[in-house]
Amino acid sequence: MEKKYTDFRNNIYQKISGYVPGEQPESNDWIKINTNENPYPPSPSVVRVLQELAKNPSLLRKYPNPNGEPLRSSLANMYNLKPENFIVTNGSDEALSLIVRIFLDQTRTAAAPEITYSLYQTLVMSVGAKYIHAPMKNYTILNVSPEALEESGADVVFLSNPNAQTGEFIPLNILEKLISKSKKLWVIDEAYNDFVDIKPSSFLHILKEHENVIVVRTFSKSHSMAGMRIGYAASVNPVIMQGFLTGKDSYNEDVVSILTGKASLEDGEYLHKVIQSVQLERTRMMTEFLDRNFLVLPSEANFLLIQPPESKKAHDILLKLKEQKILVRHFNSPLLAKYLRISIGTKEENNELLKAIDFIVSS
Ligand SMILES: Cc1ncc(COP(=O)(O)O)c(C=O)c1O
Repeated sequence: MEKKYTDFRNNIYQKISGYVPGEQPESNDWIKINTNENPYPPSPSVVRVLQELAKNPSLLRKYPNPNGEPLRSSLANMYNLKPENFIVTNGSDEALSLIVRIFLDQTRTAAAPEITYSLYQTLVMSVGAKYIHAPMKNYTILNVSPEALEESGADVVFLSNPNAQTGEFIPLNILEKLISKSKKLWVIDEAYNDFVDIKPSSFLHILKEHENVIVVRTFSKSHSMAGMRIGYAASVNPVIMQGFLTGKDSYNEDVVSILTGKASLEDGEYLHKVIQSVQLERTRMMTEFLDRNFLVLPSEANFLLIQPPESKKAHDILLKLKEQKILVRHFNSPLLAKYLRISIGTKEENNELLKAIDFIVSS
């Protein structure tokens, strides 16, 4: 048959399924704890920047700084690195996407834990690279095995730390020991890292000694700015950073995101308060679910992966919660089907959730 332009790369795209995002309802009358957003508003300093911009709309007339300045320098100051070590991106998904485009092709292989952020697989397969599911260390409580990633034979490995879907955090000293000897490129995705109790938790603090690491972070979770789309990647390897500059769009991050991101980053006091509130509620909700005989995986993130007592099916509970306008997340994969993932909401939202679950379980 004659070739059509629509055949282009069909050999790749027919084999993969796109990332399935959590439901985003149109109205605001839902308790929405399905996509790990932050239940608290962004810093008041973000609002002040928006007000300033509203007074000077002419600021939108010009293109933004192509390197995300002044946010990039602000990040460098915060982590005692150089501005050239950072690339500011349109959400951390863009950073992940760039990494895949720049470092992978049909001759290369990437690995990630069997249970993790599913976008890694979609992105890797979209460029025709091979994707390896590294086995978990333990299938009862779904522990990640960093050793399995190292032994996977992949060129690039993705590690979400804390891990997406489970909340498990791998301490820096364990990772560092492995990575110092590794010949692979390690992508450490720290989307949930600000919620970790044990400090220091970010690989950025030890990045200087590791040229084979890219750290990826986001403002979507701890900074309550998922709607703004602000992320970044950091590396001390000049070849990697040159790759980012070559591969990125000319103006990949907008003025509003750059300026509000900087304001949020520099309001450490507010960030600390928000993180503490999430951590306190996380501890309380763990106890509440354990008291109700749920299995609760230990989490250092802003969500809990919970398994309802034997008699009740996770997906049924999700449907019944939905009838009460409460949205939680369920993954229909063999290892996760028994679980529900619940983002940590405000105290009031969490209480509503517990009330609804008590009603469902007792009826
Ligand atoms: C592990 C992980 N990485 C990255 C992202 C993407 O975040 P962003 O909103 O910065 O694109 C998410 C979103 O949920 C995530 O769970």
